[in-house]
Amino acid sequence: MLDRVVAGSVPRKHHVAHRDASGALFHEECLTREGFDGPYTILYHRHRPHTHALATTAHGWDVPVASSPLSLAKRHYRALDVAPRAAAPIDARTPLLFNRDVVVSIAQPSIDDPVYFANADADELVYVFRGGGTLRSTMGDVAFESGDYVMVPRGVVHRWLPNAGLEQRWLSMECLGWLSLPKQWRNAVGQLRMDAPFCHRDFRRPTFDGPRDEGLRDLVVKRGGRFHGFRCQTSPLDVVGWDGSVYPWAFPILCFQPRAGLVHLPPTWHGTFAIRGGLVCSFVPRVVDFHPEAIPCPYPHSSVDCDEILFYCDGNFTSRRGVGPGSISHHPAGIPHGPHPGAYEASLGTRETNELAVMLDTFEPLEATAAALDVEDAGYMASFV
Ligand SMILES: [Fe+2]
Repeated sequence: MLDRVVAGSVPRKHHVAHRDASGALFHEECLTREGFDGPYTILYHRHRPHTHALATTAHGWDVPVASSPLSLAKRHYRALDVAPRAAAPIDARTPLLFNRDVVVSIAQPSIDDPVYFANADADELVYVFRGGGTLRSTMGDVAFESGDYVMVPRGVVHRWLPNAGLEQRWLSMECLGWLSLPKQWRNAVGQLRMDAPFCHRDFRRPTFDGPRDEGLRDLVVKRGGRFHGFRCQTSPLDVVGWDGSVYPWAFPILCFQPRAGLVHLPPTWHGTFAIRGGLVCSFVPRVVDFHPEAIPCPYPHSSVDCDEILFYCDGNFTSRRGVGPGSISHHPAGIPHGPHPGAYEASLGTRETNELAVMLDTFEPLEATAAALDVEDAGYMASFV
């Protein structure tokens, strides 16, 4: 969660009467985390926000199922070869890799969500590999474009509006515990530290223009791995104002400030978002290590507690052969991994890299779905010999 934002009309104190010009009372919705102990936002609705009638829904994506037990191996999935599903974002994602903490999916949406959606199972982090559009929520609109991370907190009512005419390719990370900024980048009052790799100004917060009625009344809620339909009496976006630290935002990956050292720095220096059971890292173009005998290429390593996936976005991936934009490599704990043959030596003397990639380290093993195996590069393991 980020800094506190106040948008629109809010009363001078929590839980006191707040009325419109005619005297009608607004209704609070206190969206709280960790029970009532964590970050929160209070929204003020024109109408009661809890009048959902039960309904049915056919919307939602497939909850991931593991393929039959796989042998322990380094694997490479060509995520852009996944066949597109349906068209609206709520229906478009295909889960590829997952564990109890995170579900990694690829999506290729092309039309607007026709319903509102709230994910009560997860904070959502979407990396927009290609595309752009608007995330519309009770707290306002967040514009996004290629290269943005977009975060939607658990329980926030929203829908995605992809820009028509743009190819959309999104990497979705459904964070089933929580997502936050790494705590080492906060000072004692929660402000991002002067030495953090990003600052408050790098985050794009919602633009709030007051209550909105798009004529939509259908709401889908994901809870317990299932999608539940509801019918609202009034527009869920009937918000006149809100105040708090829980809201969706966008963060351009190129705003991440990379570090370089005398010799190679470990991935933790690229840590961008912390999730339960994992860390999301951003590898962006940068100068590399400056010791005269430095080996800039990542060292072979056995990170014995972590599975690692890399989503390759752009640039020249000097340490790996056969991967390109849209590739997902999965290097599991249990066996060491590192550069392809020759890459280690070839990196000597290089001064910069233009690679752009998103990495996710998880402590729990990741399982692959059948959809992932359909686009697997069968020769990847052998390519390291
Ligand atoms: Fe690694």
